[in-house]
Amino acid sequence: MRRTLDRRVLLVASLAAAFALAQCRAAGPDPAAQARSAAAWATVYEVLQHPRCVNCHPAGDVPLVGEHREVHPQNVQSGGNGMGLFAMACPTCHRDENTPGRHMPPGAPRWHMPPRNTPLVFEGRGARELARQLADPSQNGNLSPQQLLEHVKSDPLVLWGWNPGEGRAPVPVPHRTFVAAFQDWVEGGCRVPE
Ligand code: HEC
Ligand code: HEC
Repeated sequence: MRRTLDRRVLLVASLAAAFALAQCRAAGPDPAAQARSAAAWATVYEVLQHPRCVNCHPAGDVPLVGEHREVHPQNVQSGGNGMGLFAMACPTCHRDENTPGRHMPPGAPRWHMPPRNTPLVFEGRGARELARQLADPSQNGNLSPQQLLEHVKSDPLVLWGWNPGEGRAPVPVPHRTFVAAFQDWVEGGCRVPE
């Protein structure tokens, strides 16, 4: 009796997980929602390509700085786990909040970059390519569409893009517009635009 119940609970849990993963790949609920999803991607993509986001999602192991993708000073590297190497560990300089003053280290809780084994590259990715990458759990850090949405809604490193400290341009698309577009993109089936 007990065992059957456990099995049922397990089955429901794994179906829910499978559904969450499948959601993005499914055709999407209806053609209007699918069209909204594809259209919403332009707004999402514009934000993901902003320097405040690309600088921590570079094509290599080295974070970028400023508005023109300069290489981070002091030979800082991801260190493989994204937290930096030894004395150059990110929290040595990056605190929970921006340090006041131009060219001072920006800050937010758990400041780090994606680890080498899940690089989450935004730099240089075309619109269609990045949509496919983000919808694919094997390339997005194994997140379901719902988890992705939660991340862009509330992750401190994402929110920092709208409060980047002195001398840095914030992301120009309002955060709530970005979240609404991301939600449309997810709910219509994470469409890759034509
Ligand atoms: C030795 C101190 C130091 C260490 C260690 C360090 N940083 Fe920085 N970082 C800075 C300073 C200073 C700036 C500001 C540079 C400027 O604005 O000209 C900066 C800026 C940045 C920016 C640019 C933000 C933007 O959009 O302009 C990113 C991204 C960044 N750091 C990521 C990291 C990551 C990830 C690590 C760890 C792997 C790290 N940093 C380790 C000092 C450091
Ligand atoms: C300080 C570095 C940093 C900055 C700045 C940053 N991110 Fe990230 N981002 C990460 C890390 C690290 C992860 C991996 C998840 C984790 O470890 O928290 C991540 C994960 C993500 C993910 C989910 C995984 C995926 O497939 O991409 C999204 C979406 C994302 N970031 C969007 C953004 C957006 C949008 C901005 C700009 C508004 C931004 N990030 C700025 C470090 C950063």
